[in-house]
Formats: sequence, C-alpha cells, structure tokens
Amino acid sequence: MSRYDNPSTSFLAVVLFLFCFCPMVLSLLPQNQTEAMNNLSKNLTPTIPWSGSDPCAWKGVSCDPANSSVLGISLSGFSLPSSDFLPLVCKIETLEHLDVSKNRLSSIPDGFITECGKIKGLKLLNFSVNKLEGVLPTFHGFEALESLDMSFNVMGGNIGLEIDGLVSLKSLNLTFNGFSGSLPTKLGKSMVLEHLLLSDNSFDGKIPDELLSYENLTWIDLKNNKLSQSIPINIGKLSKLETLILSTNNLAGEIPTSLVDITKLSRFAASENRFTGSIPSGITKYLTSLDLSYNNLSGAIPEDLLSPPQLQVVDLSNNALNGPLPRKVSPNLFRLRLGSNQLNGNIPSDAFVGVHNLTYLELDNNILTGSIPAELGSCRSLALLNLAQNQLSGGLPQQLGNLTKLQGLQLQFNNLNGTIPTQIGQLPKLLTLNLSRNSLGGSIPSEIANLGELNFLYLQGNNLSGSIPYPLLT
Ligand SMILES: *[C@@H]1O[C@H](CO)[C@@H](O)[C@H](O)[C@H]1NC(C)=O
Ligand SMILES: *[C@@H]1O[C@H](CO)[C@@H](O)[C@H](O)[C@H]1NC(C)=O
Ligand SMILES: *[C@@H]1O[C@H](CO)[C@@H](O)[C@H](O)[C@H]1NC(C)=O
Ligand SMILES: *[C@@H]1O[C@H](CO)[C@@H](O)[C@H](O)[C@H]1NC(C)=O
Ligand SMILES: *[C@@H]1O[C@H](CO)[C@@H](O)[C@H](O)[C@H]1NC(C)=O
Ligand SMILES: *[C@@H]1O[C@H](CO)[C@@H](O)[C@H](O)[C@H]1NC(C)=O
Ligand SMILES: *[C@@H]1O[C@H](CO)[C@@H](O)[C@H](O)[C@H]1NC(C)=O
Ligand SMILES: *[C@@H]1O[C@H](CO)[C@@H](O)[C@H](O)[C@H]1NC(C)=O
Ligand SMILES: *[C@@H]1O[C@H](CO)[C@@H](O)[C@H](O)[C@H]1NC(C)=O
Ligand SMILES: *[C@@H]1O[C@H](CO)[C@@H](O)[C@H](O)[C@H]1NC(C)=O
Ligand SMILES: *[C@@H]1O[C@H](CO)[C@@H](O)[C@H](O)[C@H]1NC(C)=O
Ligand SMILES: *[C@@H]1O[C@H](CO)[C@@H](O)[C@H](O)[C@H]1NC(C)=O
Repeated sequence: MSRYDNPSTSFLAVVLFLFCFCPMVLSLLPQNQTEAMNNLSKNLTPTIPWSGSDPCAWKGVSCDPANSSVLGISLSGFSLPSSDFLPLVCKIETLEHLDVSKNRLSSIPDGFITECGKIKGLKLLNFSVNKLEGVLPTFHGFEALESLDMSFNVMGGNIGLEIDGLVSLKSLNLTFNGFSGSLPTKLGKSMVLEHLLLSDNSFDGKIPDELLSYENLTWIDLKNNKLSQSIPINIGKLSKLETLILSTNNLAGEIPTSLVDITKLSRFAASENRFTGSIPSGITKYLTSLDLSYNNLSGAIPEDLLSPPQLQVVDLSNNALNGPLPRKVSPNLFRLRLGSNQLNGNIPSDAFVGVHNLTYLELDNNILTGSIPAELGSCRSLALLNLAQNQLSGGLPQQLGNLTKLQGLQLQFNNLNGTIPTQIGQLPKLLTLNLSRNSLGGSIPSEIANLGELNFLYLQGNNLSGSIPYPLLT
C-alpha cells in the first residue's frame, strides 16, 4: 500500500483544504458585494495587486465594523491609465468614499455619473491629481455627496449649473485646473457649502454677491485667478469665515471694513492685487495671519494693527504706507514684513522686547531714522533681521550678538557708524552679513573668523581698515 492511500493522509488533505479556504467561509460580505469587488479586481488586474477571498482585507478597501458592507475604496497613486473601471465601482451600493486621486485618468465615463449618482450614501469623491480634461460633468443624484475634489486636473470651460444638484455639498475643490468665465454661484441648491477652493484657474470678472448667500462658508480660496473689481462690501455677512485667500488677482478698491466684523476669521490674504486706500482699523482683531503685500495701500498703519495677542504673521510689504511703526506688538508675532513702503520715524525701542517667537523681521526699504534698538537682542528666535535701505544711524548694538539663531543680518544702505562689535562673531548660524554702504569705521574684528556658516560677507562702502580674517578667504 503506497503511503498516498493512507486514510489519515487523505484526512489531513481535507483538513488543509478547509483551512486554506476558511477566510472565504468567514467573509461576511453579502454575495453580491463580493462578486462586485471580484469583478472590479479582475478589471484592475494586474495594476492593482488585490488577492485573497475577503475584499475587506484588500489594500485600500474599508468595510463597516461587522464587515458586512464595503464603505470605502481608495485607488490612489497607481497611475491607472483608464477610467473604464469606474462604473463597476457603482455596483457597491453601500459605498461612502471613493478616492481615485493620483492616477492618469483623463475622463469620467457617463456610466459612472448615472450609476454612482444612485448610491444613497456616497459622501466623498476624490479625483484630484489626474489628467481629467473637458468641462465639468453635470452631476445628477449624489444626494449625500459632501466632498468633491477634482483639483490638479486639466479641466476647463465655464461652470454653470453642473454642481447645483449636489444638495449635501460641503466641500468643493477645483484648484489647479483651467476653468474660466465668472466664478460659479450655483454650488448646491441647499446652500450648505463650507469649503470653496477655486484657486489657480482663470476665473475672471467680479466676486459675485451671490456667494455671500452661502452663509456656512468657512474657507474661501480664490488665489491666482483673473478676478477684478472690488471685494463685495458686505463680505462681513459670511460670519463663519475662517480663511479668506484672494491673492494674485486684479482686485481693486478698498479693503472692506466689514471684514473686521468676522470674529472667526483667522487668515486673510489678498497680496498681489491693486487694492488702494488705507488699511481698516481693527482688521487684525481676530486674525492670526494677514497678508496684504504687493498692493497700493496708503496712509498710516493703524496704531492697533500689530497688538492683538493671537496675531502671528503680518505682511504689508511693497505698498505705499507711510507714518510711524506701531508701538505695540503681539507677543506671539512670528513674522513681520513691512519692507518697501514709506514708513518713517524710529524703530520703537520697547516694542520688540520679549517677542520671543519673532523669527522674521523685515523693515527694509523705508525711511526709518534713529538707531537700531539694543532691545532687538532680546528677540532670541530671530533668523532674519533686515533693516537695509533706511536712514538708520548710530552704532551696531553689541546685543545683536545674542541672536544665536540669526542667519541673515541685512543692514546695508544706512548711516550706521562706529565699529563692528566683536559680538557679531558669536552668531554660529549666520549665513549672510551685509553691512555695506554705511559709515562703519575701525578694523574688521578678527572674531568674524568664528562665523563657521558664513556664505556672504558684504562690507564694501564703509571706512573699515585691516584685513578679512584668513579662514573666511579659504
Ligand atoms: C445585494 O444584497 C443585499 C442583501 O444581502 C440586498 O439588500 C441588495 O439589494 C443587493 N444588491 C443588489 C444590487 O442586488
Ligand atoms: C460581475 O460580472 C459579471 C460578468 O460581467 C456580471 O454578469 C455580474 O452581474 C457582475 N456582478 C456584479 C455584482 O456586478
Ligand atoms: C473586518 O476586516 C478587517 C480587515 O480585513 C479585519 O481586520 C477585521 O477583523 C474584520 N472584522 C470582522 C468583524 O470580521
Ligand atoms: C484627495 O486626495 C489627495 C491626494 O491623495 C489628498 O491630498 C486630498 O486631501 C484628498 N481630498 C480630500 C477631500 O480628501
Ligand atoms: C481640496 O480641498 C479640500 C477641502 O479643503 C481638502 O481637504 C483637500 O485636501 C484638497 N485637495 C488637495 C489635493 O489638496
Ligand atoms: C448651515 O449649517 C447649519 C448647521 O450645520 C445648518 O443647520 C444650516 O441648514 C446650514 N445652511 C445654511 C444656509 O445656513
Ligand atoms: C498707487 O496709488 C497712488 C494714489 O494713492 C497713485 O498715484 C499711483 O499711481 C498708484 N500706483 C499704482 C502702481 O497703481
Ligand atoms: C511661540 O511658539 C510656540 C511654538 O510654536 C508656542 O507654543 C508659543 O505659544 C508661542 N508664543 C510665545 C509667546 O512663546
Ligand atoms: C546680551 O548681550 C549683552 C552684551 O553682549 C550681554 O551683556 C547680555 O548678557 C546678553 N543677554 C542675554 C540674555 O544673553
Ligand atoms: C555716529 O553718528 C552720530 C550721529 O548720527 C554721532 O552723534 C556719533 O558721535 C557718531 N559716532 C561715531 C563713533 O562716529
Ligand atoms: C548686500 O548689499 C549690497 C549693496 O551694498 C547689495 O548689492 C547686495 O545685493 C546685498 N547682498 C545681500 C545678499 O544682501
Ligand atoms: C576713515 O578712517 C580713517 C582712520 O582709519 C580716518 O582718518 C578718516 O577720517 C575716515 N574717513 C571717513 C570718511 O570717515
């Protein structure tokens, strides 16, 4: 009798057979979902390496806690070239999330829109970072869809009523496409939209008043389009707004004072436009970040602009602002850029005391006078101190040597005199030291040789004597 006829061996084979297939027995997915997932898997072979009999165990597939239905499918980042598989996904009638971002899909088949539109619980569709072209499809159904992300594609044309049927839409992201014409105003009949991201397209015309009816908006990003005319004067109606980004357009007129009323607004950016007039008083009352750089704003900086304690970032550079620097500064200020204006008066000596988070201070290209306050030495986080192109006079405070994180010290084109303090040699991170075009005298301190990271040293246009220490010339 050969050993293969041994009854106990056959028994073992049967046990092994059962063991190998037991995951199938344990799979709780209804037969029709397992079949739909197998159909999808077959279509995606070999790009998607799905294997095993329990689809809930496949990479990118998520099921409910009882594994009785598929809730999410993520096929992100596989460079899938064809969207033929998309209608198959719609057979999963329990689907809530579909992420097909980061592939090479160039179209959305009609079958997808008609079939997936019937899925009652589908909340999120992510088509971002593909090669989708043509106009936006018209969405029918999709009654639960809350988030539609079609950013980073090459779609174009005007947007009219295509998404107005999405009655649950809370987040629309069409950033980085080629859409043109007026900004869309039909963004879901039931007006529950919260996030509207339309940056980096070619939208033109004005910001329509109709947008202000979406009172639940918390995030608006219209950066880098061709929008013109003024911001709607009653934008303050959007009382839940937290982020408003309007940079790099052709917007003009004044910054509306109604923005001051939005107590939730944390970030307002409107740089690179053509805004004129003065900065409304109280604009930073609730903000953490304000960017109005590269406009044509004039008048003085409001006295209270820098003082609100939550304020972290202010950029008003490249405008036509005049008058003195505000004297009170938020203790949490991280970045302050006021360069290329017509600001005058002194740098207030007490304003920056204890502003321990201040990392970037740029007051260059103004008409500031007086001396560099020694108190700046207490801003121990400073990485960049740029006071170049002013009319500052007096000596370089030795306390600058306390700024151990300093990487850039730009003081060129001032009237600074006296000698270069030896403490400058205590700045271990200094990369750029520009003291050129001043009236500094005496000899170049040998301690400069301690600046191990120094890449750029500009001392020309002074009355310095001696030589540049040897290690720096190697
Ligand atoms: C799939 O099966 C479930 C019950 O297990 C049923 O409710 C559902 O209608 C079926 N779906 C289809 C498309 O047949
Ligand atoms: C799976 O594919 C087969 C063959 O195309 C089809 O007959 C069947 O209806 C599909 N099943 C599901 C659940 O989609
Ligand atoms: C559901 O599937 C996941 C993934 O395969 C698994 O970790 C989990 O144990 C399963 N839960 C149930 C209740 O079967
Ligand atoms: C869509 O996918 C991209 C890339 O994977 C991701 O960065 C983005 O957050 C996703 N969008 C949504 C709304 O989840
Ligand atoms: C699109 O916007 C949504 C909502 O703000 C965001 O969650 C998502 O990450 C954005 N998509 C990408 C690719 O950044
Ligand atoms: C705004 O959100 C609230 C709470 O989520 C909701 O009740 C309301 O219907 C939404 N829509 C409008 C237009 O306020
Ligand atoms: C800036 O505004 C002033 C008036 O305040 C005007 O004379 C000037 O031409 C404007 N400059 C630009 C570049 O628009
Ligand atoms: C400074 O920054 C740190 C970390 O970013 C933060 O925890 C702290 O509250 C900020 N403010 C001050 C005054 O240090
Ligand atoms: C700052 O620098 C001055 C002069 O170099 C020195 O006397 C003082 O102790 C320093 N302060 C701190 C806090 O390091
Ligand atoms: C530096 O210039 C100021 C006037 O701006 C003058 O009072 C002072 O004596 C000068 N100091 C030196 C060392 O030349
Ligand atoms: C330093 O100042 C000179 C003017 O004297 C200017 O030409 C140069 O670009 C400046 N370099 C840096 C890195 O700031
Ligand atoms: C330059 O320094 C020398 C001494 O080193 C001094 O005699 C001369 O007057 C100074 N020139 C100017 C313009 O300050």
